[in-house]
Amino acid sequence: MRLSVIGTGYLGAVHAACMAHLGHDVRAYDVDANKISLLSSGVSPFYEPGFEELLQSALSSGRLRFTLNVEEALANATVHFVCVGTPQLPGSDAADIQYVDNAVKLIAASADTPGLIVGKSTVPVGTAQRLAEELAARPSAPALEIAWNPEFLREGKAIEDTLRPNRLVFGVDSEHAEKVLLQVYGTLIDEGIPHVTTDLPTSEMVKVAANSFLATKISFINAMAEVCELVGADVVTLANALGYDDRIGSRFLTAGLGFGGGCLPKDIRAFSARAGELGASDSLRFLHEVDKINVRRREKAVAAASALVGGEFLGKNVAVLGAAFKPNSDDVRDSPALNVAASMHLRGADVRVHDPKAIPNARARFPTLTYCEDVEKACRDVDLIVLATEWEEYCNIDPLAFRSIVRAPRLLDTRNAIDREYWAGAGWLVHALGRRPLTPHIDASQERL
Ligand code: UDX
Repeated sequence: MRLSVIGTGYLGAVHAACMAHLGHDVRAYDVDANKISLLSSGVSPFYEPGFEELLQSALSSGRLRFTLNVEEALANATVHFVCVGTPQLPGSDAADIQYVDNAVKLIAASADTPGLIVGKSTVPVGTAQRLAEELAARPSAPALEIAWNPEFLREGKAIEDTLRPNRLVFGVDSEHAEKVLLQVYGTLIDEGIPHVTTDLPTSEMVKVAANSFLATKISFINAMAEVCELVGADVVTLANALGYDDRIGSRFLTAGLGFGGGCLPKDIRAFSARAGELGASDSLRFLHEVDKINVRRREKAVAAASALVGGEFLGKNVAVLGAAFKPNSDDVRDSPALNVAASMHLRGADVRVHDPKAIPNARARFPTLTYCEDVEKACRDVDLIVLATEWEEYCNIDPLAFRSIVRAPRLLDTRNAIDREYWAGAGWLVHALGRRPLTPHIDASQERL
């Protein structure tokens, strides 16, 4: 099938390459000349495991092209995917949907073939219905219809989530629209990927409800962590025990620094704002609490760091390991790690930040922090190491070797990611959020002297 993709950010670029991989003929359009030039030459503008290989193979198959020319992107396409951003409006919790509106207008004005406009962007519930009504009120030649097909991709797992999603959701207004979507995703459906066909508002609800549930699950376990700390209980053991109950499940129950990134924080705020517009503020009031618990994690981490260095950051060197909002990503949007680093820096600490992939993006956002390309360099002579993003390489650090390069062997694990017994046994004072601090000792098995 000939498909167009409007918007080549994270979602659009991955979607375009995956659709070409599935055998479709795809033209992807963006207004950003730099992005189009990078993508056209097989270079990813962002870090995503496996994406560059997929992109290059799709380009060399001849089934994928990137263009700055919208007519070229839309020509002969029967399906147009809208993959533009819906950022938070400045000074408000609501989503800015001008890019979605503009994309639909652009398609309506320039498409040369009857087709289906398929929204993938996360939008306030009711947007698809409004767009459908607007399209119907301005009958275009050729005829165009709206459908919604929310994406659930996680950064770091974007290819897997697009090619092997847990489910496909089709919000449609007609049997024809459903038939087109079944054809687009035919290969995945034949492989047994479940699909749910529903109306437009329900499809939009699935996305915001899923993100709200995930955010709530994380804040739930973080609220438990707050109580655990007060009573001397252990949140990791608690989560483990809870997870055996398959009604609860063990995933998304890792307590720590909480959620960040370009989706969960903004999506729960936009959903609450939309509920307010719909007169349903009470129904989603709990999301405000979810947000508050999440923001509090960053403050708790800074307080724990402060306590570990004796209550005073001035004159203290602190290494922050991780800048991305989660591992396997170079995305620093609303990154809890950077927030904690910036906060300690403001309080007078000499903060050195390391990240395997996100330093350029972090430096652009927080230029006054010190960045180190090398973990060892970041940790040299520090009074405290704060593990803020659980990249695998940090979990493999040798605590004995690092003990000899720091000024004081103290570790704050804000992600409950490292083997704290092992670190404590190598002479480190270890504090993990939601757990009792471990005092340093030297395990005979670890002592090399
Ligand atoms: C999320 C949704 O998972 C995805 O379905 C949606 O399409 C977009 O938003 P993403 O933002 O890529 O994806 O990240 P995700 O893996 O969901 O993690 C979000 C944040 O929660 C990260 O900061 C992560 O560190 C944090 N997190 C996750 C926890 O603090 N604890 C957990 O147990 C899980």
